[in-house]
Amino acid sequence: MTAPETGTRTGRTGTTAGETRTAGETGAASGGPDSAALRERALASLTTARDRTTLLTTCIDEPDLTAQHSPLMSPLVWDLAHIGNQEELWLLRAVGGREAMRPEIDTLYDAFEHSRAERPSLPLLPPAEARRYAAEVRGRALDLLEAADFEGTRLTEAGFAFGMVAQHEQQHDETMLITHQLRKGPRVLTAPDPEPAPLFTGPAEVLVPGGPFTMGTSTEPWALDNERPAHVREVEPFWIDTTPVTNAAYQAFIEDGGYDTERWWAPAGWAHVRQHSLTAPLFWRRDGDQWLRRRFGVTEAVPPDEPVLHVCWYEADAYARWAGRRLPTEAEWEKAARFDPVTGRSTRYPWGDADPEPEHANLGQRHLRPAPAGSYPGGQSPLGVRQLIGDVWEWTASDFLPYPGFRVFPYKEYSEVFFGPEYKVLRGGSFAVDPVACRGTFRNWDYPIRRQIFSGFRTARSEAV
Ligand code: AVJ
Ligand code: FE
Repeated sequence: MTAPETGTRTGRTGTTAGETRTAGETGAASGGPDSAALRERALASLTTARDRTTLLTTCIDEPDLTAQHSPLMSPLVWDLAHIGNQEELWLLRAVGGREAMRPEIDTLYDAFEHSRAERPSLPLLPPAEARRYAAEVRGRALDLLEAADFEGTRLTEAGFAFGMVAQHEQQHDETMLITHQLRKGPRVLTAPDPEPAPLFTGPAEVLVPGGPFTMGTSTEPWALDNERPAHVREVEPFWIDTTPVTNAAYQAFIEDGGYDTERWWAPAGWAHVRQHSLTAPLFWRRDGDQWLRRRFGVTEAVPPDEPVLHVCWYEADAYARWAGRRLPTEAEWEKAARFDPVTGRSTRYPWGDADPEPEHANLGQRHLRPAPAGSYPGGQSPLGVRQLIGDVWEWTASDFLPYPGFRVFPYKEYSEVFFGPEYKVLRGGSFAVDPVACRGTFRNWDYPIRRQIFSGFRTARSEAV
């Protein structure tokens, strides 16, 4: 089980070999943490997450909470108690040193004990009990937070465990939104649509200069283990799309017979689309000569200027080849997102070091869809690349691998057990991701066949020589 690793004491400001604390990163918190501000930030992050969890689990009835809407997903009531159980493990037990509240339920909510497909047949806590349990854990966690001292152990330093738990809950809030999208039935969730994109007359692609840049972070206090440490990467000069690939562009690939043309596909991707008879992104349906798609219980015409959503890595890879391009590597994506050519340093986000605000990016389930391509000029990178953060998760060419100097923290089942060639990295975060779980360094990963996630992509090409 994901047993919390306790007692890993380190010096607060210790700089260990391989951790370039100053080389090439800007803006992250450093020096003595201000406890009152940390406490406030942790409280706000936990509260925002719980509000979202509550919304996602109270807008449907009990049978819908306990049902399995897709074998790819847990019943929502599992996510709810799992959120509480992880919070109990990390905040109450690991940080607070408390006894287990209900030791017998740990195995039910351990993601490594039971696959998602088998979770509905487990003796799960019924909805009311799951809610009560999560609320009780939260009450005790907030008591702990009031008295917390943010120094001494790596788990508590800068409020890391609180930040990790808030991010974990938000990750499950995105997972639960995916379950909502897979669920059949009328609409239960509503949100205002994003604004139309402002008139954009800039170039379709941007040249990112070659040379070294700082990838990953050693200074971002709530960065997870796989984002660490900061290290220097060399990339060759390359061109990257200014915006994510749109539905209209993707439709051109479909109309050109993209799904029937073997040469655009990686061999395993070709086998996959043939075997499953894929002809379009998930949730798309052809109606005469137009494409419709179902979104949170409502069927609509596919909007041409929105970033394409619900494509797997193989589809993204095939589209890129058809377009005479390729997916960016993870390092290329991060350089496009963080590298400031004026200072030569890497910022926390494309727009700089400031925490995300609504004018920067489409995050936090404020809207239940990506914004049209070209939106959020306020969030563009110094090189002019838009919508790197928010809207859609972006598939990269890269396998999910540890950075040089990677160290497991605080448990190997978060990242380490997934390292290897079977997972591809996604970057940037979708409209469903909360700001607390999204940064220029944040890494997500999934199997290359997955497309129920809020995934899209942009393309790149090497600079012509
Ligand atoms: C980082 C999104 C791949 O959902 O499997 C949630 C996040 N880890 N609980 C996942 C996570 C443990 C993870 N991803
Ligand atoms: Fe989890």
